[in-house]
Amino acid sequence: MRTVTQASASLTARGISKNFSGVRALDGVDIDLPAGRVTALMGENGAGKSTLLKILSGDHLPDAGEIEIGGETVSFQTPFDARSAGLRVIAQEPEIVPHVSVAENIYLGALPSGRLGRVSQRAIEEQARQDLERFGFGHLLDPARLGVELSPAQRQIVEIVRCLIDEPQVICFDEPTSSLSDHETDVLFELIARLRDEGRAVGYVSHRMHEIFRIADTVTVLRDGRLIGSREVTDTTEGEIVKMMVGRDLTSMYDRDRREPGAPALELEDVTTDDVTGVSLTVHHGEVVALAGLVGAGRTELALAIAGDRPVRSGVIKVEGTPRQFGSPREAIAAGIALAPEERKADALVMVRTVRDNIALAVLGSLSRFGFVKARREKDLADRYIEQLHIRTPSAAQLVQNLSGGNQQKVVLARWLARDAGILILDEPTRGVDVGAKAEIYQIIDELASRGVAVLVISSELPEVLGLADRVVVMQNGRVTGELHHTEATEERILTLAIADHLSDEGATS
Ligand SMILES: Nc1ncnc2c1ncn2[C@@H]1O[C@H](COP(=O)(O)OP(=O)(O)OP(=O)(O)O)[C@@H](O)[C@H]1O
Ligand SMILES: [Mg+2]
Repeated sequence: MRTVTQASASLTARGISKNFSGVRALDGVDIDLPAGRVTALMGENGAGKSTLLKILSGDHLPDAGEIEIGGETVSFQTPFDARSAGLRVIAQEPEIVPHVSVAENIYLGALPSGRLGRVSQRAIEEQARQDLERFGFGHLLDPARLGVELSPAQRQIVEIVRCLIDEPQVICFDEPTSSLSDHETDVLFELIARLRDEGRAVGYVSHRMHEIFRIADTVTVLRDGRLIGSREVTDTTEGEIVKMMVGRDLTSMYDRDRREPGAPALELEDVTTDDVTGVSLTVHHGEVVALAGLVGAGRTELALAIAGDRPVRSGVIKVEGTPRQFGSPREAIAAGIALAPEERKADALVMVRTVRDNIALAVLGSLSRFGFVKARREKDLADRYIEQLHIRTPSAAQLVQNLSGGNQQKVVLARWLARDAGILILDEPTRGVDVGAKAEIYQIIDELASRGVAVLVISSELPEVLGLADRVVVMQNGRVTGELHHTEATEERILTLAIADHLSDEGATS
């Protein structure tokens, strides 16, 4: 096996094509990842970005095309070949072994365990501590934690460190920040700048436009599996990139009706759980309330408590004016509360079932009275959401595991939207979703509210919070630090409430 040893090696791929049983994922794509530069790869959900990276990582064999690294033609039959050639791709959905430590997860496959039998736990934890420190993540992750205990952000950090210990010449990131907080993103961006300055070639996939302008030198756009073009970041605009991605100008993302809120649907009075303290808030019918705050502020924990998935220690949750205590998510669902969770893939999707089955799961009870009617209505329901959310799939009969990351997320969202709940809680509903689809999702949320649904949205994207919400409730350290009507909400005000040190002497709870 050949090893690339020079300090800088560029990657060029020419004419890469890939079909999946009838789906043309890539069609003769050329791409350059020059040494010492960050090349962003953009495109709508299903455009072929992850497929391209999986070909570079040796996870997929291309049907056609050539790849060169440092001027030499390479051919990857397996991920091991790609690694040996100095290429690592940091996966969109990292694989984490649940019941072993962070340290073991980092050195997975690289441990000399076969020969030595047991490697001292302490020794590899110490090694992991040093490696985490070296890449700037030392303060964010304890090497002794177990895989199951990790947040999506921490899983992502494990994956990054796992790949970088190989000292690859070419490094590609597939939506690395979708689960990271702003601080973790800053740390990652410093690291990426360092990798670039060391002369490595960096590929970077993201749906977040502002990140592209912050970190990338060049943007390359794919649409429907084809290369549309490349631009120098200094020489293009957000508008131009969006147009290259979707093939048309996008009108305003946040085009919404202003509604009069109705009666209170959900009321929290002084609710305390293990992770949040004394939270009071109200969501009315026909109203969209955004929960803003930094990652770790307790928003997801609060949502889980409302949905019966965390014990409420004190305080009252009222649904339609009646105090309720939910012993399980099932009871909350029966009371008309639907929660579309943050970590969609693991929690929510049955990967080996079809798109139709996954969407219909939510309403199985109501559709299943007569078998033959059921099949028909399931298909209608699935088709409706495939169209509304532009889920890119050959048909409702496709297996969910064959969809692109963003399209899988749309399937989960479709399921919760199909449920017809009176109270809908959405935790980061547009994470990993492309700009065009975001606009569709915003429109659907708006329509639901207009039909009287009470919507509580957790979002870490401030433009989304401002665009969607009738009211913004800001949390910090498990407490509500402020509430803003949409007419008074600004990014600056929200941020101040999210980070200002209001509670410094009371002792943080989380
Ligand atoms: N194993 C597979 N079997 C069938 N189709 C697949 C498979 N993997 C990917 N596809 C299809 O190939 C196309 C490109 O998918 P890909 O995952 O590369 O998109 P992407 O650009 O990464 O999108 P996203 O932004 O949603 O992550 C999609 O239509 C997808 O459904
Ligand atoms: Mg992808």
